[in-house]
Amino acid sequence: MQKITIRDIQKFKFRKTPFAAVTAYDYGSASYADTVEIPLLLVGDSAAMVVYGMDTTIPISMEELIFLVRAVRRGSNKALVVADMPFMSYQTSIEDAVRNAGRFVKEGGAEAVKLEGGTVYSAQIKAIIDAGIPVMGHVGLLPQSYHLSSGYRIQGKTKLEAEKIVSDAMSIQASGAFSIVLEGIPANLAKIITQKLDIPTVGIGAGPYCDGQIQVYHDILGLYGDKKPRHSKSYGELGQQIQNMLTEYKKDVEENIFPDKKHYTTSQVFTEVNHK
Ligand code: KIV
Repeated sequence: MQKITIRDIQKFKFRKTPFAAVTAYDYGSASYADTVEIPLLLVGDSAAMVVYGMDTTIPISMEELIFLVRAVRRGSNKALVVADMPFMSYQTSIEDAVRNAGRFVKEGGAEAVKLEGGTVYSAQIKAIIDAGIPVMGHVGLLPQSYHLSSGYRIQGKTKLEAEKIVSDAMSIQASGAFSIVLEGIPANLAKIITQKLDIPTVGIGAGPYCDGQIQVYHDILGLYGDKKPRHSKSYGELGQQIQNMLTEYKKDVEENIFPDKKHYTTSQVFTEVNHK
């Protein structure tokens, strides 16, 4: 697989089959995803929860994310690496938005940024793009608006809400975004938006009609305990496997099974020294 660019992502709009994207937070997750040729890696602010153990995505800082973006870039040679703009890194002003998007690219090595919200952030999206940085939009369920939406709730179930999401998606496209995440909306609304837009839609909890799907790495691999959301599917229980392996390791140490001869060296010199 060649290095993926935003043009390649845009071409997925015209493919019959949807594409798979995933979040990544470190060197290992990025290199595993690269091995199976996943074209887009998002260093999501979901790291707040699955990496840093926070209750929501709200508290994570630019610094906490930049370290992860760097690690992901080191692990990925092929995928497009998108960095997620954390809460209050772009809402406050156009200047903050451009400066922080620039930090992700310059200090983290990201190739694009994603930000949550619609029409109200058109100016931020345009300014970031004017600075030479591709932007991915994100509408529907907006985890950074957790308090405003009284928790993580499916959005767009009423006509009014649905119309607002459609118009937000249209204005994100008009602002120049190369792609857009549709999160937590009814599948038929996601279908309408996907048909209306020229840029690829990437769904999470938005049904099967999007141009691509994105999932949180820890959710699909069974690494986040029983906190996995309804929209995700576990392809294994790595968390359980890790526990089993750690139990085995602990037992080996306690029973003097590890380290055994093949894991250490004995120097003749020291033996002789000790004998004198
Ligand atoms: O932070 C994240 O992981 C995301 C995805 C859910 C799209 O924004």
